Amino acid sequence: MGADVKIVEPCNLYECELGDEVFVGPFVEIQRGVKVGAKSRIQSHSFICSLVDIGENCFIGHGVMFVNDLFKEGKPAGGDSTKYKETKIGNCVSIGSNATILPVEICDDVVIGAGSVVTKNIVKSGIYAGNPAQLIREL
Ligand SMILES: CC(C)(COP(=O)(O)OP(=O)(O)OC[C@H]1O[C@@H](n2cnc3c(N)ncnc32)[C@H](O)[C@@H]1OP(=O)(O)O)[C@@H](O)C(=O)NCCC(=O)NCCS
Repeated sequence: MGADVKIVEPCNLYECELGDEVFVGPFVEIQRGVKVGAKSRIQSHSFICSLVDIGENCFIGHGVMFVNDLFKEGKPAGGDSTKYKETKIGNCVSIGSNATILPVEICDDVVIGAGSVVTKNIVKSGIYAGNPAQLIREL
């Protein structure tokens, strides 16, 4: 943990790395190996699975779900982490409440609308929303 990290219990945090001034709200689970960059905020009830890397100055809204197991073989990977996929979130990314983020890369300066499902990499700054998330406005 960096300096001035604030965690509101109860939370489940498993060997993750939290940068300076990170905020983690209540009822959040962050799995092993996750990195959260400085000044990012994780709001309550979010789930951040292993192989997720979040940049600096990000806002992860309430009840945001990350996914690393796509059930590619017709069922869960059953704990075989070699089958899990990574997610990389850039800097200054704001993710609206109840969004689901499949294993993707999201570049800097992006907003994801509430309730969206991000299924593909986002390589251009802007506001994306819907299921599947699409660009609705450039920033
Ligand atoms: C995505 C968002 C940023 C869009 O804001 P905006 O650029 O002002 O967009 P608008 O409200 O003008 O809507 C533009 C279009 O996108 C649609 N849209 C807006 N938000 C949407 C969302 N979350 N999911 C799907 N469609 C959405 C609107 O219905 C509208 O569609 P139309 O053109 O067919 O009428 C905003 O709606 C949002 O979801 N913010 C997240 C806020 C949040 O979760 N905060 C957490 C802390 S409380």
